[in-house]
Order: sequence, then structure tokens, then C-alpha cells
Amino acid sequence: MIIAIDGPAASGKGTLARRIAAHYALPHLDTGLLYRAVAARCLALGLLDDVAASEAAAARLDVAAIDPEALRSAAMGEAASVVAARPGVRAALLDLQRRFAAQERGAVLDGRDIGTVICPDADVKLFVTAAPQVRAERRFKELAGRGAAVTFADVLADIEKRDERDSLRSAAPLVKADDAALLDTSALGIEAAFDAAMALVTQRLGQRG
Ligand code: C5P
Repeated sequence: MIIAIDGPAASGKGTLARRIAAHYALPHLDTGLLYRAVAARCLALGLLDDVAASEAAAARLDVAAIDPEALRSAAMGEAASVVAARPGVRAALLDLQRRFAAQERGAVLDGRDIGTVICPDADVKLFVTAAPQVRAERRFKELAGRGAAVTFADVLADIEKRDERDSLRSAAPLVKADDAALLDTSALGIEAAFDAAMALVTQRLGQRG
């Protein structure tokens, strides 16, 4: 069973993907980490603006060596969205995402283009969203809780900029797949969002028999 979960930054999709994967005991891939890891490599080399360097970093990406904690910053999310707009980078990361999805029991993947490009035949597709203000509040609390020196205004501006870049790019833009179920978590806490997501997943699975 393949479950594809897409949505904008801080929509809650990552938390929901982890919880849904745990519920079904399926492996989970946070595909945003792949783009963040490519961006981190480019930043370390001082080559974020170099398209060929980012494509090479994507082609040589060692998933086992990714340290999620080192990639969580807002700056890394921003840099990730820069490299993610490049078709060559996306092409270099396609196979490893499809291989992950093709595991025997299935998998849960979350990102921006899982239901549209990576796994167009996924058994279940969710598009998780929330109002920009709400997403910025969540992200601000998370970053401030980790001691980051950020303001709410900066976080909101970052989210709006990333939404725009991710949605307007020509390569695999952030868009809801036609057959994805929409879940707006603006008014939902984690537990209520999980319950709503599980209701949609079981409904979809029921429809597929
Ligand atoms: O989900 P996360 O915030 O970690 O993603 C960082 C950036 O990586 C996103 O803003 C987006 O530009 C890019 N991304 C993508 N496709 C995915 C996952 C992430 O383009 N499947």
C-alpha cells in the first residue's frame, strides 16, 4: 500500500505521515529531507547558485548519511526550495523515491509532488494544507522552541515566499492531485488532524476495495 501525502510547508503533513506510517507499520520517507540535503551540500561548497553542482549533489546523494536534525533550519528550507526548482535535481532524485515506494509492503512518502509525479498510482493521496498564518504560527513556535532567533514576521514571509516558489515553478509544482483528498488542518490540533486523516485514508482504501 502506497500512501502519498503532499502539502505546503508546516501544513502538518510530516507529522501526519509519520503517524500514519506508524499506524500501518510502513516505512516512511520525508522527501523534503532529500532536497534539504542537496541544498546543504551546495551551501557547504558555496555553490547554491550553480545548477550543475546541485545536480551532481543530487546524483551522489547518500540517503543513509542524512542527518535530519542538521537540516531543520528555515535557511535550509529556503535553500532546498531553490535547488528543488531545478528539473535536473528533481530527475536525479526520482528513482530513489520510486524505489522507496516500491518496497514490498508499501510505504508512506510525504513531499510536494508525491501524488502527482513520484507515485501517481498511489493507493491513497492526501493533500494537507492550512492557512499561511496558522502554518507560520506553528513553524514559529517550533523554531523558537529550539532556541532559534526568529520573528513571527520573518517566519510568515519565509512561508509565503516558499509557497510561491514551490507553486509557481515549472518542474513538478506544488499542486493537489485531482484524485487527492483535501485535508485543511487550520482549525485542527495534532490529534484531531490525525483522526481526520485516518478517516480519509480508510475511506479511500474502502473505495479501492
Ligand atoms: O518539506 P520541506 O519543508 O522539508 O521541503 C523543503 C523544500 O523542498 C520545499 O520547500 C520544496 O521546495 C522542496 N520539496 C520538493 N518536493 C518534495 C519535497 C520537498 O520540491 N517532494
